[in-house]
Amino acid sequence: MMEGTRDSLESDGSGAEQPPVPPGRRERAAGRRALASRYALLPLRLFLGVTFSYAGLDKLADQHYLAGRGDLQSFYAQTLAAKAHSPVGALLEPALHAPTFFALLIAFGELAVGLGTLFGLWGRVAALGGAALSLTLFLTISYNVTPYYLGNDLPYLMAWTAMLLAGTPYLSVDGYLARRAERDRNRGLTEDAVRRRTFVDGSIAAVALGGAGLLLGSLTATFVRKKSKPAAGKPAAPTGQGGAAVSVAAAQVPVGGSATVTDPATGDAVYILQPSAGQYCGLSSICTHAGCTVNPPSGGRLDCPCHGSRFDAATGAVLAGPAVKPLPKYTVTKNGDRLDLGPLQG
Ligand code: FES
Repeated sequence: MMEGTRDSLESDGSGAEQPPVPPGRRERAAGRRALASRYALLPLRLFLGVTFSYAGLDKLADQHYLAGRGDLQSFYAQTLAAKAHSPVGALLEPALHAPTFFALLIAFGELAVGLGTLFGLWGRVAALGGAALSLTLFLTISYNVTPYYLGNDLPYLMAWTAMLLAGTPYLSVDGYLARRAERDRNRGLTEDAVRRRTFVDGSIAAVALGGAGLLLGSLTATFVRKKSKPAAGKPAAPTGQGGAAVSVAAAQVPVGGSATVTDPATGDAVYILQPSAGQYCGLSSICTHAGCTVNPPSGGRLDCPCHGSRFDAATGAVLAGPAVKPLPKYTVTKNGDRLDLGPLQG
């Protein structure tokens, strides 16, 4: 075969010769691949930006989040539950001393990270903040999830690491500032002047975006959040002083409802429930997935607000994962008009 003829034919790897690809078509395909590589992280950036913005606003709109220690679904109660099972539990002490400050810090932090990522403003700083939040949640909430890939904070941490490495150079404020800095250099501006201008304008944009986030969060907390009202699972003062049984008045536990006591052995909150008339049991409020406090019973089940596990209110059995173990169950005995919390069942 002539050399020129061999050059103009291509093989698909099976040995069969393919018709030649015109140079223009090959360049267009290479261009499309380059474009796809260039914007490869854009879907991830949009997802992280929307998710963290939503997570921040969702916390601010949640009537329980800032409710304080009397509410089992509050930031305080969730932090207290996480402290007992976290490898960095001792570091959570400041959050328990100033729960409102830290709860707002996390909610507004998520909002700031989300908006910064969406707009591509100081993208690496936003990614660093996102990674710090995800690492904190991993060490406090997801650390005990088994197997580890069922916890969702570790994948978020990895996603933020990719954003931290790549930054937000395209379709972003950062990209605009970088292009303008290049033009300034070509105009003969000194490097110092270019950097100063970029930093000042980036700071102005950050203050504007931060102000918009603050306003959005404040409006959400003011107008969307409903007033917290005592739930069926509000803490009831247990008796049990001097080693007597931990108990509640039976009248506090309606059919389908619950009252909450504390297991003196572990310090964990326990729901005393009446799943059907005259049937009583106790279930630990600590989710067996990663230690969040599950919500009081509703519709015959207890839902975990962290990752969506559901437990049967009569048995503690898992109705939906990611939890795989049932809620620890306690014996409850009716004693006159009181319900006594008994030992953990085996
Ligand atoms: S802690 Fe993950 S589902 Fe409850």
